[in-house]
Amino acid sequence: MAGQKIVKSNFFLEDNFLETLAEVPAKEVAAWQPDKKLEIIGTPVSRIDGYDKVSGTAQYTFDVILPNMAFAKTLRCPHPHAQIKSIDTSAALNHPGVLAIISHKNTPAIPWYFNTSYLFDPHLRYLGDEVACAAAESEEIAAEALKLINVEYETLPFVPDAKKAMEANAPKLYEQGNIQGGKPSVYQRGDAEKGFKEAGEVVEDTFTTQVAVHNTTEVHCSVANWDGDRLTVWDSTQAVFSVRDALAQSLNIPASKVRVIKKYMGGGFGSKLAPGKYTVMAAILARQIGRPVKIALDRKEMNLAVGNRPDSVQTLKAGVKKDGTLTALSHRSYGTVGSHPSGAGCSWPFRTIYQCDNVYVEEYSVFTNAGPGRPMRAPGHVQGTFALESFIDELAEKIGMDPLEFRLKNYTEKDQVFNLPYTSKRLREAYKKGAEAIGWQRRSQPAGSDPGPVKRGIGMATQIWWGGGGPPAYATIRLNRDSSVHVLTGTQDLGTGTYTYIAQVAAEVLEIPLEKITVTLGDTGLCPYCPSSGGSVTAPSVAPAVHHAAEQIKAKLISGAAALLELPEDQLLYEKGVVSSIKDPTKKIAITDILSKMQEQELIATGARNANPKGYAINTFGAQFAEVTVDTETGKVKVLKVVAANDIGRLLNWKTAENQFHGGIIQGIGFALMEQRIIDQATGKVLTTNMHDYKMPTVMDMPEIEAYVVSEADTLISSVGAKGLGEPAHIPTAGAIANAVYNAIGVRIKSLPITPDKVLTALHQARRLP
Ligand code: MOS
Repeated sequence: MAGQKIVKSNFFLEDNFLETLAEVPAKEVAAWQPDKKLEIIGTPVSRIDGYDKVSGTAQYTFDVILPNMAFAKTLRCPHPHAQIKSIDTSAALNHPGVLAIISHKNTPAIPWYFNTSYLFDPHLRYLGDEVACAAAESEEIAAEALKLINVEYETLPFVPDAKKAMEANAPKLYEQGNIQGGKPSVYQRGDAEKGFKEAGEVVEDTFTTQVAVHNTTEVHCSVANWDGDRLTVWDSTQAVFSVRDALAQSLNIPASKVRVIKKYMGGGFGSKLAPGKYTVMAAILARQIGRPVKIALDRKEMNLAVGNRPDSVQTLKAGVKKDGTLTALSHRSYGTVGSHPSGAGCSWPFRTIYQCDNVYVEEYSVFTNAGPGRPMRAPGHVQGTFALESFIDELAEKIGMDPLEFRLKNYTEKDQVFNLPYTSKRLREAYKKGAEAIGWQRRSQPAGSDPGPVKRGIGMATQIWWGGGGPPAYATIRLNRDSSVHVLTGTQDLGTGTYTYIAQVAAEVLEIPLEKITVTLGDTGLCPYCPSSGGSVTAPSVAPAVHHAAEQIKAKLISGAAALLELPEDQLLYEKGVVSSIKDPTKKIAITDILSKMQEQELIATGARNANPKGYAINTFGAQFAEVTVDTETGKVKVLKVVAANDIGRLLNWKTAENQFHGGIIQGIGFALMEQRIIDQATGKVLTTNMHDYKMPTVMDMPEIEAYVVSEADTLISSVGAKGLGEPAHIPTAGAIANAVYNAIGVRIKSLPITPDKVLTALHQARRLP
């Protein structure tokens, strides 16, 4: 059991296929088979950090207050595109209470955004780009200082729209032009043109989606403190180790001198996945003034500068036979990534979710003078799934087939991009469960036939995502003499329940009550390495490492008991903290006695995530079914009910899982019906920079939500058998709602968000107004 070895493994972190050499268990941990009865895994345990959160004692980054702390604010570019000609900070520095100001004039050129730009770059590519950062005695004084900084800008021609940015004479953000990488990203298999010729029907349609902003509850925030040459940073991040490494690199100091801490977090959704400029700026200012510095972004900055989901214009084309066979699919899309490199591609689901031998994909990521794109809860898949699933509905109608039957007709048992079987796929079960729960037969046939001005409709969408996780990921367990347990692992809890299921895994193996388990996460100074919490890889990566560590502790206890009881190990049984002889149960010894007789205060073991199995694709699957009403007099869509049914491998905790379903669906309703960043094309100004103008769902928009997990443990992946859920829960919602809207009114809205004006216009054009 003890010990690790180095092997090759691979996994998807979002759409990045990573091949790793990873340290994994030398001897595989025996998997919890699906039929094994587990005591605490899979039960609806309340969050172990629940009290801390509801009582307000949980320490978020914003809550960190250090003696003698100073506060920083950032000066941001007021123009969509400009060059700094000169910058004069003397008046600001003379202002009482101002401590330091940094800009490109007095800091080294620190590479940023994959080396396309700098921490402070005098070439400003969007309205909100960082110009300077001031530290002062208070946040108010820092804000006053910004007003006193004199900047002379040379304004440049700008282009906030992706389509215009692709035109030959558009203002350029980069010398090489506005198309990222200079060309589209192309994927193809088979021969799409040949496939179209073989089809009975060829259908083509275009769908668009908007730019959405994460707008996490917790603002982006850092507190930096130097102790000699050692830096400690509290940071609101999905990746403490990435932030540590970015700080070490930016400041040119060893990683061992940097400690990054994140205890609690109010959501990230991808906006806190990459290290933030504000974090490095706080560290530079703190070093300069010899005091701790806190920097917290405000709502406006969050809507301008820390990421968004790229928009998309997607043209889909399919060849389909009368019996429902897909003979060819093509997908051409473009979308804006804003001012810096990111990904606007959205074709991944399209490539493999349905059986089709001939596929062609062409995607353009386009630079515009707008805030930088960043991954956002299932990057690409959310936009792509809305378009694809709307399109699939259209195709089914075209050949007169039930849309669910059409999806089953094109079901695939293997990943078609890598030509590999799945470790598990329970999508059929998800379809069945979801269709039953929503009452699929109740939908309007034909679409729009529900009488009355307020029409009901039902629609569905399918989801695929990665979320299999993989190594490297480690967990250390310290078992104390009093049989209490401390689990340390360098992952982070974004608010998803990571603390809780980690404690559950340790409790399950060691058969120790949850109350005796303490979990420390999100601290590079204490915890062994774990990957970034993105791509829904956290549970499937970390839980098996905890399992491995706990099994090692158990093996040590048995080994210790064997010596103390003078019995061979294979004649001993571990149960609820006591090791006893199988033959003579009166011969037994408990944890406390084992450790004290061994003269040990604690037993320590570090576990590792196993390598992924060779020759398989690992994916999560699911389906959502939505029921809506559309008021044809006002155009208002109301979501009545959403049913989600998912394949997530083994369910670890129903409460934290249901919480992910709810969050994913609610965010999906926002994307489907109301959320959008709006830029005034004439001035380049973002018009939606607060939570009033950027509309998000509230309690008044909540539907009934019903969620089901239709899978059992996927023992090919790991000993725990869990797959991710955070992103899968969000991917199909907008598509299901869009299809339900079509079913209600018989007119398809092909552009998100489905706002009342679009519904009324579409009804008017189709002459379907009441
Ligand atoms: Mo994410 S968008 O996997 O943080």
